Amino acid sequence: MTQRHGFVVWFTGLSGAGKSTLTGLLAPELRRRGLAVEVLDGDEVRAHLSKGLGFSREDRDTNILRIAYVARLLARNGVAVITAAISPYRETRNAARAMVESDGVPFLEIHLAASLEACEARDVKGLYAEARAGKRPGFTGIDDPYEPPLIPDLRLDTGSERPEVSLAALVRLLEERGLVPAGEGVAR
Ligand SMILES: Nc1ncnc2c1ncn2[C@@H]1O[C@H](COP(=O)(O)OP(=O)(O)O)[C@@H](O)[C@H]1O
Ligand SMILES: [Mg+2]
Repeated sequence: MTQRHGFVVWFTGLSGAGKSTLTGLLAPELRRRGLAVEVLDGDEVRAHLSKGLGFSREDRDTNILRIAYVARLLARNGVAVITAAISPYRETRNAARAMVESDGVPFLEIHLAASLEACEARDVKGLYAEARAGKRPGFTGIDDPYEPPLIPDLRLDTGSERPEVSLAALVRLLEERGLVPAGEGVAR
C-alpha cells in the first residue's frame, strides 16, 4: 500500500472570511483524489478539545497550539489536515508552523484576505452586529487584533472572488507542491 505524506493547510482570516466554507469545499475535493482528510474547525474545536477557553490572548494561543499539536499527530501519519480557526496572532501561527514542520510535515499558511468591511457586510452569523453592540467584547477585527501574514504560502481574495475560484487556486498550489495527485480539474 502506498501511503501519501500528510500536510497541513492552515487557514487564517477574520470571522466570515471563508475558512469554514473553503474547508467544506477542499475536504471533499481531496477525498475525491484519494487522500485521508481531517478537519479541525475552530468552532468545533472550541466545543470539544478547547472547551472552556475564552478569547484572551492566552486562551486564543492555547487553542491554536492545541490545534497545531493534533494537526501534527495526524499529518505525520499521512493525513491531509485542514485547520479553520481565525488564528489572529502572527507569532502563534509561526509557532504552529514550527511544531508541524519539526516532524518534517509541510505546513501551508493560507490567508483568506477578505477585508473587515466585507466580512462585516456579510455578517454570516450576526456576530459583528453583536460585537458592535458591545455584546461580544474582544471580537477580532473590532476591538481585538488581527495580524495578517506577511508572507503566506497563498493569499486569497475571499472578499471579492467566488469560493470556487479560491478553491481552484488552492488546489493548484497543492498540486504544484506535489502534495496532491493531479485531478481532472476541480469538481463543480
Ligand atoms: N471566495 C470565497 N471563499 C470563501 N467564502 C466565500 C467566498 N466568497 C464568498 N464567501 C462567503 O463568505 C461566507 C464565509 O463564511 P464562513 O466560511 O463561515 O467564514 P469563517 O469560517 O471564516 O468565519 C460564506 O457565506 C461564503 O459563502
Ligand atoms: Mg468558520
